[in-house]
Amino acid sequence: MSFKTGKTPVFPGRRAIYPIRGFLSRNPDGAILRSMVKKIFKQYPPPPGTVVERDGAHLGFLEGRTVAVVGYGTMGSAHAQNLRRSGVKVVVGARDGSVSGQRASDRGFEVLSVAEAVAAGDVVMLMLPDEAMAPVFTRQIAPNLQPLAALGFAHGFAVAFDQVKPDPGRSCFLVAPKGQGDMLAAAHAAGSGVPGLLAVTGDSPAETWDLAASYALAVGCLTGGGFVTTFRAECISDQFGEQVVLCGGVIELLKSAFDIMVAAGYDETNAYFECVHELKLITDLLHRQGIDGLRKRISGTAAYGGLTRGPRVIDDRVRRNMKRILDEIENGDFAAEFLRNHRDTEKLADEEADGPLARAGRKVLPRLHPDYPDYPDKTTD
Ligand SMILES: NC(=O)c1ccc[n+]([C@@H]2O[C@H](COP(=O)([O-])OP(=O)(O)OC[C@H]3O[C@@H](n4cnc5c(N)ncnc54)[C@H](OP(=O)(O)O)[C@@H]3O)[C@@H](O)[C@H]2O)c1
Repeated sequence: MSFKTGKTPVFPGRRAIYPIRGFLSRNPDGAILRSMVKKIFKQYPPPPGTVVERDGAHLGFLEGRTVAVVGYGTMGSAHAQNLRRSGVKVVVGARDGSVSGQRASDRGFEVLSVAEAVAAGDVVMLMLPDEAMAPVFTRQIAPNLQPLAALGFAHGFAVAFDQVKPDPGRSCFLVAPKGQGDMLAAAHAAGSGVPGLLAVTGDSPAETWDLAASYALAVGCLTGGGFVTTFRAECISDQFGEQVVLCGGVIELLKSAFDIMVAAGYDETNAYFECVHELKLITDLLHRQGIDGLRKRISGTAAYGGLTRGPRVIDDRVRRNMKRILDEIENGDFAAEFLRNHRDTEKLADEEADGPLARAGRKVLPRLHPDYPDYPDKTTD
């Protein structure tokens, strides 16, 4: 969709989004654009909880702009591919000798040094690991940013916990896909996408919301809706979910249940099937049908057993632990610990891989999945 009015381009060259409001007030034709904006956001700027619908959003705010994607890992590669498919000009920023930078080049992207990519970008997307944000931003991004370039993120951590402090008035937005990078890339290639969480920093110009919605549409983060939030809320809820449920609580639950069955004399394979393998069946049901739909689709014994025994497993002590973990995320203790100790992650994962559950998985999985362990690489370009 074009936003040219008569002979005057609405967004000439590299002018960033600051002048949009001025344009709207000066140019009567801006009414067209204003009505578009109103379609996206019923209240403007939108309060948390607003849902940006895919049908109401448009790509006009990216027209004629270059997006510099800094970091071509799991998420950066998905954004770069999806932007390109949406007709947006993309350059990729990579460090010297970068393996992922080479992959981007092989896929036909223009790959520049981080400094060069930033200098070329009207929108600069920071697709770096959380622990790398601060040093890369300070040394290579901040000094090379165009005065009116916007900064974009796929996760709130860097801004919420002061790893990146954009200069006052800088447009700074968050488009956080609710799905992994490979899932986002595959969904967009199939003509769909995933839901997204959208935010802008408090002192971004209000027009940054339009850019965020446009960007979310371009990368496929409005399928099911773009949910307006804040950098802090996105970061805290994301980390809480990861730690307490997805990557922490559930995994420890599986390990403990497996250990107890094996210690009680049950066969390892049997224990693996009951405590791990069948989790996918349940999460698929939950994903599609919700908790109430799940209860209706499992056996009566499973429903009764789960409803009466589940609360005994997750008792008040566990709930207090969950709350303490939330407190540590909110007060910044987790962020500080992660930035200090993130190098321990590999050692901890190696120790887990030596444990009984991982060993049992390595025995069972080749029978179930002929391609094991060659599960597709996280980057699916
Ligand atoms: N992974 C997901 O599915 C997912 C989901 C939601 C949000 N996110 C967010 O997306 C962002 C990127 O995460 P990711 O998972 O895509 O990370 P990733 O797969 O680890 O990729 C990181 C990229 O950054 C590059 N990089 C690392 N250190 C660098 C440095 N010092 N200088 C320049 N480039 C550097 C790496 O390049 P090399 O090849 O040179 O190492 C790689 O291309 C994060 O904010 C994350 O929270 C990710």
